[in-house]
Amino acid sequence: MNPSADVVVVGGGAVGCSVAYHAARRGARVVLLEAETVGSGASGAAAGMLAAQAEARGPDSFLDLLLEGRKMHRKLGAELYEVTGLDAEYVWEGTLRVALSEAHAKDLSEALRWQREAGLSARWLDGAEVRELEPALSAGISGALYLPEDGQVNSPRLVRALALAAARNRAEVSEGEPASGLIRQRNRIAGVRTARREIAAGSVVVCGGVASGTLARHLGIRLPVAPVKGQILSVETITPPITSNVWDEECYLVPKRDGRVIVGATEEPGTHDRRPTLGGVAGLSGAAIGLLPHLARRPFAGAWGGLRPGTPDGRPLIGPAGDPEGLLIATGHYRNGVLLAPITGDAVSALALGEQPAVDLSPFSPLRFEGQR
Ligand code: GLY
Repeated sequence: MNPSADVVVVGGGAVGCSVAYHAARRGARVVLLEAETVGSGASGAAAGMLAAQAEARGPDSFLDLLLEGRKMHRKLGAELYEVTGLDAEYVWEGTLRVALSEAHAKDLSEALRWQREAGLSARWLDGAEVRELEPALSAGISGALYLPEDGQVNSPRLVRALALAAARNRAEVSEGEPASGLIRQRNRIAGVRTARREIAAGSVVVCGGVASGTLARHLGIRLPVAPVKGQILSVETITPPITSNVWDEECYLVPKRDGRVIVGATEEPGTHDRRPTLGGVAGLSGAAIGLLPHLARRPFAGAWGGLRPGTPDGRPLIGPAGDPEGLLIATGHYRNGVLLAPITGDAVSALALGEQPAVDLSPFSPLRFEGQR
């Protein structure tokens, strides 16, 4: 079989579209196969927080990857705008991790300690300072960990911009075309099969998000990816009453440039049903109003759910699948697919084309759970 693509990407979420864009920008012939439409999975549902520091649990290789993702996002917006004319609506106003209880304040001050020791920008604000920065927030907030370098983006728009930027770099982006099997030649990948064609390829990258486990089984490999449902609400305002991402133990609020305040998110393992529930909407609404009382008087604009691709240790699966050679995995990004999309896309497209990735991917090897099953 003569390769008709250098790289076939399976899955058109933020990560898949980013792999396709970065590979196409490197001059590769790329085909992206998406079973439904680009952004129809978790990244289309996401609130779009780029909260590298707020998501991190300690100074380790995962923090480094999150920070690298955030750094790349700082340049990506302008780059995508130049290539596509689409504005992904980045906002760089930081994250406030607010405390409503003593116990939570203690956890946050521990996070402040290690973040400062790691040389990151982080500050403690007392209640008065929190309300000076965000006057509409509840008087019940006793303090907050302020992470000024975090940001946010309109995630569905980002996915569209990445897909379009890939297409502008001559990638073929095919919607409604699921991959149905891998083509192997001895121990090497030779391509991908769909219902209507065979695509010969040098490398294949599986970026199927929560569908990766099932997809992998169809393709004859095993991946430990399981859904963790997140429900999200949207509230309409004219000018959002907050500027930064605001996050307590019950919910987070993300003020969008178009006036919406996005309220997220539940964490519900063990279901494939994406639909929002009354309990989910009630819990998030109560928590959001508790943080930002103004929201009680604003129109409810909708609720939806997404399925985060969870892994046993909450970290992504990025790198070679081992067997067959040339098969790469970029999935399991759990809470951080949007944030990590640029660095994963850049690193995996380098691997796919036989180059050295700019970051060490060994801590995220998809093979790290082998022998544990
Ligand atoms: N990235 C936030 C969430 O997954 O809810």
